[in-house]
Amino acid sequence: MPDLAARAQALREALALYNYQYYVLDAPTIPDAQYDSLFRELQQLEASHPDLMTPDSPTLRVGAAPRDGFREVAHGVPMLSLNNGFSEADVLNFDRRVREGLGQDEVDYACEPKFDGLAVSLLYREGLLVEGSTRGDGETGEDVTANLRTIRAIPLRLPVPKPPQVLEVRGEVLMLKRDFAALNAAQAARGEKAFVNPRNAAAGALRQLDPALTAQRPLSFFSYGVGETRGFDLPPTQGLLMDRLAELHFPVAPERAIVRGATGLLQYFDRIGRQRADLRYDIDGVVYKVNAFRYQEELGFVSRAPRFALAHKFPAEEALTEIEDIDVQVGRTGALTPVARLKPVFVGGVTVTNATLHNEDEIRRKDIRIGDQVWVRRAGDVIPEVVAVVLAQRPNDARAFVMPTHCPVCGSAVTRASDEAISRCSGGLFCPAQRKQALLHFAQRRAMDIDGLGEKLVDQLVEGGWVHAAPDLYALDVDKLAQLPRMGMKSAQNLLAAIVHSKETTLARFIFALGIRNVGETTARDLARHFGDLPPLLDASLEALQAVPEVGPVVAQSIHDFLAEPHNREIIARLQQQGIHWPQAAPEPSGRAQPLAGLTLVLTGTLPHLSRTEARVRIENAGGKVAGSVSKRTHYVVAGEDAGGKLEQARALGVPVLDEAQLLSLLNQETSSQ
Ligand code: IVH
Repeated sequence: MPDLAARAQALREALALYNYQYYVLDAPTIPDAQYDSLFRELQQLEASHPDLMTPDSPTLRVGAAPRDGFREVAHGVPMLSLNNGFSEADVLNFDRRVREGLGQDEVDYACEPKFDGLAVSLLYREGLLVEGSTRGDGETGEDVTANLRTIRAIPLRLPVPKPPQVLEVRGEVLMLKRDFAALNAAQAARGEKAFVNPRNAAAGALRQLDPALTAQRPLSFFSYGVGETRGFDLPPTQGLLMDRLAELHFPVAPERAIVRGATGLLQYFDRIGRQRADLRYDIDGVVYKVNAFRYQEELGFVSRAPRFALAHKFPAEEALTEIEDIDVQVGRTGALTPVARLKPVFVGGVTVTNATLHNEDEIRRKDIRIGDQVWVRRAGDVIPEVVAVVLAQRPNDARAFVMPTHCPVCGSAVTRASDEAISRCSGGLFCPAQRKQALLHFAQRRAMDIDGLGEKLVDQLVEGGWVHAAPDLYALDVDKLAQLPRMGMKSAQNLLAAIVHSKETTLARFIFALGIRNVGETTARDLARHFGDLPPLLDASLEALQAVPEVGPVVAQSIHDFLAEPHNREIIARLQQQGIHWPQAAPEPSGRAQPLAGLTLVLTGTLPHLSRTEARVRIENAGGKVAGSVSKRTHYVVAGEDAGGKLEQARALGVPVLDEAQLLSLLNQETSSQ
């Protein structure tokens, strides 16, 4: 029996540690199957020897009985709210009042993301989690202990030999973006309604009366402060308190920072704003807190909010508006995309007037009708989207969308393959919409790079009957161009020079410019690298196409279909006759310099020259993979300025850390294996 007790204790400690590594550090150290097997061993031990059960057993995270309602909990230390700021002026005012209040010239602030979740309080007595509650009205909340226990990022016991008598940890329950995406995908697969955002999904999960239901929703937690404490040696600053909570295995934001003065605050706001789309969780702003607790006490509170803190909010990423109409746009490949015309609404920092509805099935699934009130979302540079309809506000005269049977641009029949969600215009290149889109695609910077050939000009050239397909561009002359409205001699000459200039290109750009369905820039580059020149690509069989690394059956079929079309072959021939050419290269079936082949890198912080996307593309082109989190399988962490938790994790796991210069020299290495 003593052996069994020791085994149960060892299992509990091991599981708590693996749990922490997985859910808090995001860096698992054992395979899931091994975790599951240890977990089952503990479950069986406890089942056969109930006296071995302890209140901090990880097996108790699931399995508490459902309740009829939540008990009320009075907060010993009230859970306050924050004053909001929206502009630079608000931040300057806040800093000025703080400085005046303290009689200081300059003040240090602890800056943190403002988590967009639900505030909770976790009460630990003698190191054991005994009670968890929601914020409620700030004075009284609801007892959601059983639900909070299911959240793996929350420690059930503090991992220290001499825990404080009382420690109340405050923070936010939320759902990570990747978990939210998976949850919504599962909802869609079951034909159920999507959640509008991670916050709503988390709120619903936290308020379930049956903890088993909460356990099925992937919730996370981040801490940002403490409430009541007894026997806890409170550090002198917010920054140090966060470090202490991290030591106690609570998740804290890796993006937290200490800055000086209003300049520091505004820089932090900009930096986090730029990172916002890449963060693992939704935030609705940042929070500034005077760092020193003795200054916080000195400043005190006005009504319900502290004078020592400010929430600096970002523009909301979601807003309610009305669908005034649904139009249909025809793309380069003939795809008909329904687009919602919206009553203008300010969201994600810009005024949005339309949002893509993707396709008919999507409209049906979301049950979107003309006249509906809808939630619109615009995050980062992402195209605005209609997330959900407010059914309760549907007007009686709301109209359903019907996909037209004929192309709104050329009048050709619209077809829809049985295995596809997309409806297409059957007019091919006779459809001016497709012609225009094809020309714009051909001329774009990443394709033939014809500077100055934009939408207006393409409209004029196609509508004037001067250009039917790309080769016609190369037959234009200055006199003709100069006749176009709003086009002088000088602009005509510039455009012509750009057209002539574009003749000297690369095979990859040329292939991309053709606008073959499913062939993006990367595939075009793979094809160019593999075949080395155009004739072998033109002659390639379906099998030969599939032999290209990264080209699967669908892409191979698209290329094959495109090249089987005599009209497309004629266009290619005419383009070559016009003198489009590229440097000849030997085919390289697989062996271009791939200095990072097989390596996994993690990016963190701001690099001096490369943006996140540039760094990622260059790593991928060199054969490497970019992962979102650091684990033992990470080969390198590339760290820039203000690198946070990932850098710490790299150090903890002994993963080598590179700066931008070292990354660049690695990228420029020739592979010796060639
Ligand atoms: S500190 C006395 N820090 O924002 C101030 N709050 O508007 C206590 N929140 O209900 C709050 N992230 O749930 C603080 N880093 C952060 C936060 C944060 C999100 C929430 C919090 C509170 C609300 C106040």
